[in-house]
Amino acid sequence: MTNFLSLADVTSIDALIQSGLAAKANPFADQVLGKNKTIGLIFFNSSLRTRLSTQKAAQNLGMNVMTMNVGQDSWGLEMEEGVLMNGDKAEHVREAAAVMGRYCDIIGIRAFAELKDRDKDYREQVMHQFATYAGVPIVNLESATRHPLQSLADCITIEEAKRTDRPKVVLTWLPHFKPLPQAVANSFCEWMNARAQAGKIEFVVTHPAGYELAPEFVGNAHVTHNQSEAFAGADFIYGKNWSSYTHYGQVLTQDPSWAVTMDDMNLTNNGKFMHCLPVRRNLKVSDAVLDSPQSLVIEQAANREWSAQAVLKEILKNG
Ligand code: CP
Repeated sequence: MTNFLSLADVTSIDALIQSGLAAKANPFADQVLGKNKTIGLIFFNSSLRTRLSTQKAAQNLGMNVMTMNVGQDSWGLEMEEGVLMNGDKAEHVREAAAVMGRYCDIIGIRAFAELKDRDKDYREQVMHQFATYAGVPIVNLESATRHPLQSLADCITIEEAKRTDRPKVVLTWLPHFKPLPQAVANSFCEWMNARAQAGKIEFVVTHPAGYELAPEFVGNAHVTHNQSEAFAGADFIYGKNWSSYTHYGQVLTQDPSWAVTMDDMNLTNNGKFMHCLPVRRNLKVSDAVLDSPQSLVIEQAANREWSAQAVLKEILKNG
C-alpha cells in the first residue's frame, strides 16, 4: 500500500482486519517499523477520535507524530491552480504539501466536503493536491466523500461481534437539523458492498426519499424507504445522518420517526447498534439504545486505533 485514500488502495480487507486484530492483541509488536519515522496529521476540520486514535496508532508503531490545524496553527491554504492569490489564503498547497513532505514520512489529511458544489467536493481536490505535491504516502482521515479508516474500524467491529457467518447489516439514515457530509455513509456502503460481494454479510440501506446516495457508492445494496422492513431480523444497525446528494447539501426532512429507539431495535435479531460518533443523543438515537448492551459505539471508536495501526503498518512495510 502506498496511499490510503479509499478502498481502491486496499488489496485485502480480510488481511487488514486480521492485522488490526493482531495489533489489538499485541500493540507494540511492530515498534521497529516506525522508528525514526514521522507522521504529520493535518486537520482542516475538528476531530476527537481520528486525531487521537491515529496518533496513538503511530506511537504504537514507534513513530514520531506532528499535528497541525490548518488556518489556526498554519497559514490558510489555497487549493486552486493558477489563481491570483489576493484573498485570505496566504500559502499555496504546492509549496505547503511539498514542505510538509520534507518533514514527514507519511501525511494524514482531514478535509470535509463544503456541501456547496457537488462536483467540486466529489473531485476530492484537497486529497489529490496533497497526493500530487507531498511526495510521501497520504492517509485519508476523512475527505469530502469518504472515511475509510472509519470503515475499516467498522469492519473490525462487525467481525468481532458477529454471531453468524453472514450477518445482516443495515445502514439507516438518522434525522439531524444540520447538513452533514455523505462521507461516512458513502464509505460504509463502499466497504460493506465489498463484504457482501465476498459473501461475508447481507447489506441493506434505508433512508427517506430524497436521500439516495451516489450510485457509485450505493452499488448493488438493497435500498428501502421502509425502516421497519430494513430492521427486521438485522444483526447490526449502523446509524448515520447525511444531507441530500441529489439536492446537494440540503436537509429535506428532520422526521423524528427515523431516530433509532428501543422499539426499533426490538425489530432486530437482538442486533447491535453502531455509530461512528459524535452522536447527538435523543435527536438521532435514544439514550436507552446508546446505554444498552446492544450499543457497540465505544468499542467501535476504540477499534479506530487498530484500524489506523493496520493501515500505517502496511504503508511502513512498503517502505
Ligand atoms: N468518527 C470520527 O471520525 O470521529 P472524529 O470526527 O471525532 O474524528
